[in-house]
Amino acid sequence: MHQKPCYILGIESSCDDTSASILKNEEVLSNIVSNQQVHIDYGGVVPELASREHQKNIIPVVSKALKDANIEKNDLSAIAFTQGPGLLGSLLVGSSFAKSFSMGLKIPIIGVNHLQAHILAHFIGKENTKPTFPFLGITLSGGHTQIVIVKDYFDMEIIGTTLDDAIGEAFDKCGKILGLNYPAGPEIDKLFNINKSRNFSFPIPKVKNFDLSFSGFKTSVINFVKKNSEKDKDFIKKNLIELCSSIQFTLIEIITQKIIYSVNKTNIKTIAIGGGVTANSFLRKKLRQIANENNWKLFIPDIEYTTDNAAMIGIVGYHKFLKKKFSDLSLKSSARLKF
Ligand code: KG4
Ligand code: ZN
Repeated sequence: MHQKPCYILGIESSCDDTSASILKNEEVLSNIVSNQQVHIDYGGVVPELASREHQKNIIPVVSKALKDANIEKNDLSAIAFTQGPGLLGSLLVGSSFAKSFSMGLKIPIIGVNHLQAHILAHFIGKENTKPTFPFLGITLSGGHTQIVIVKDYFDMEIIGTTLDDAIGEAFDKCGKILGLNYPAGPEIDKLFNINKSRNFSFPIPKVKNFDLSFSGFKTSVINFVKKNSEKDKDFIKKNLIELCSSIQFTLIEIITQKIIYSVNKTNIKTIAIGGGVTANSFLRKKLRQIANENNWKLFIPDIEYTTDNAAMIGIVGYHKFLKKKFSDLSLKSSARLKF
């Protein structure tokens, strides 16, 4: 018998991107991301402004997602939304919208953990080969840096995490001192030149087990830049490419060393990376090379699914829908949601 397809509306509003996506089973029909520009002048996300922008964007973004997917709201089977972690005011916009829309449509809601979604983004798409369990999920974003053993869709164990800043935060804060716009990660990546990446050397922190640390690195970059700018006010201007290249080279070295350590320790050779920093061109290239040399099965998301997006929320929604893991309307958003 022909089974009716499942249409999931995914909603993501945990930080500064308002996003809505429609999935037909595991296939993405639309994925609309409205990136908030209001934060640029502040050099980082201003939580109050983020909530107001989500409030403005949520209805147009959802309408466009439905229109681009060429379906009606009454076709939807369920609404999946980010429950956390993230900025509470931002999360509340997505969850309140999802709850009211679901009541109007009389369909279930599904709360999704944003970090699980970055990992499960690899299950998007009908045709692709997917990672097989167990695999190592490496989440590298602006708010989190985690090493996770993924035993099943909803059975994940965090074995390592940053003890201080996230890797994306390190990119952004180093970029800020160089006068780059927020988020600085993509800007640093654009300026990166492998031939200029050893001009300045910054320390690789020694952190035990699967954990990581980026604040010592960040402080050493900031101190180095300040000290040299006192001697020569044009130091940054004259050395921007060398500075960006050396920063990116060291940050990617820190994370790749830890990934190699994690694979060796756990003996899990299937690795799936996710989160905004996995858009980084040098990280993608370097990991592909290491994976080839060591016979790892490496999964790197399409660029569209690296930074925050609602398609990854939708795919988790789909897998929860299959298992009937629905949420109650009383589900609370949580800035520090655990899994
Ligand atoms: O996953 P994401 O969109 O949001 C969070 O959940 O935090 O990640 C955003 C982070 C920012 O820190 C941004 O600078 C970083 O991802 N990022 C990059 C690149 N593209 C985005 N970092 C390095 N290289 C990139 N190409
Ligand atoms: Zn994220």
